Amino acid sequence: MQVTMTVNGAEVSREVEPRLLLVHFLRDELGLTGTHWGCDTSNCGACVVWMDDEPVKSCTVLAAMASGHEVRTVEGLAHEDGTLDAIQQGFMQCHGLQCGFCTPGMMMTTRALLDRNPHPNQAEIREAISGQICRCTGYATIVRSVQWAADHPDGAVPAAADEPAAPAESVTEPAAADATQPIPAGSAS
Ligand code: FES
Ligand code: FES
Repeated sequence: MQVTMTVNGAEVSREVEPRLLLVHFLRDELGLTGTHWGCDTSNCGACVVWMDDEPVKSCTVLAAMASGHEVRTVEGLAHEDGTLDAIQQGFMQCHGLQCGFCTPGMMMTTRALLDRNPHPNQAEIREAISGQICRCTGYATIVRSVQWAADHPDGAVPAAADEPAAPAESVTEPAAADATQPIPAGSAS
């Protein structure tokens, strides 16, 4: 059967088997392997993408069901000018990942959360990702990453976080004070 949908802003059309899952359509037909396939039983959430701005587990959606809809994957999360979305920056800044397997799904879910609730508390973040499994982080850094994104909606990293503050000049130039003093007789050579 023929399916046609918009994926990350571009229309795609393919001839597929009616039983093909959306996760396999994205990965195998379109090569969008950022969407991960972890369990196939609707448990892990590694496969979360958006369908018409709603996070869905793409292992529970047939490609045929997505036909005529707009799908967004993690490859479509960064901005058009190439800058990372705040949620991507947050995961970088707060080490919200280790192996990274759960990360695409986590980012798609939490981006959707922030779109609906720009300042979620910790309990709300944990509830939003409660359908997803991370085997590495213990979730604390994921929560922190989402809070960072909420606090930095434009994703801009404060300069102080990039570089340590330069030491004061008086520390780096100890001889400066002496330069104002007369040179003691006999010290020139
Ligand atoms: S692969 Fe979809 S929930 Fe695990
Ligand atoms: S970072 Fe490894 S599963 Fe989450």
